[in-house]
Amino acid sequence: MKFTVAIDGPAAAGKGTIGRAVAEAFGFAHLDTGVLYRAVGVRGGDPVAAAQSLSAEDLARDDLRTLEAGQAASRVAAIPQVRAALLEFQRRFARREGGAVLDGRDIGTVICPEAEVKLFVTASAPVRAHRRWLELGGDEAQVLAQVRERDARDMGRADAPLRPAPDAVLLDTSDLPVDQAIARVLDLVRSRLA
Ligand code: CDP
Repeated sequence: MKFTVAIDGPAAAGKGTIGRAVAEAFGFAHLDTGVLYRAVGVRGGDPVAAAQSLSAEDLARDDLRTLEAGQAASRVAAIPQVRAALLEFQRRFARREGGAVLDGRDIGTVICPEAEVKLFVTASAPVRAHRRWLELGGDEAQVLAQVRERDARDMGRADAPLRPAPDAVLLDTSDLPVDQAIARVLDLVRSRLA
């Protein structure tokens, strides 16, 4: 069975938490596609060469979740040749047997427009920055500034900009507790599977 759940949205909107819960509930494989761009960003050197030669070790680095890695990721993610190098792997993952959940920025629009379920998860910038600050610490105002900067870059780029697919279900988690957000998404997936 091929069944793809595409979860897109801006930084720290809750895509990962929702994606992991869906994957676990239905036994689907899960790919956090942001990790690919973070790994390219932190490798340094030529980003196109890095994207073409990403290894399992690159993806297992323990410094991929930092704010700096997020910023580096969004810079290299604007380079069309970087995106092209990562495309096939993501497409194959999306259509693997047994079901797949992918979260990112362009899953429903570019990687898998045929996804059976498409979600666009969002929340206000201060709410998202607060969540990221709880995760990483540091200066909350600086976290907010970086979240806004990254959103603007991701939405403003020419290649695969961050935007909802026309048929995506919008989920605003600003005032929605995470367990309720997950419950709604599980219901949606269940109804599409039926
Ligand atoms: O976890 P968070 O939402 O903060 O970010 P992420 O999903 O790890 O993505 C890091 C950066 O990679 C984003 O700001 C995007 O610039 C880029 N990205 C992308 O362009 N396309 C994707 N499918 C996933 C991430």
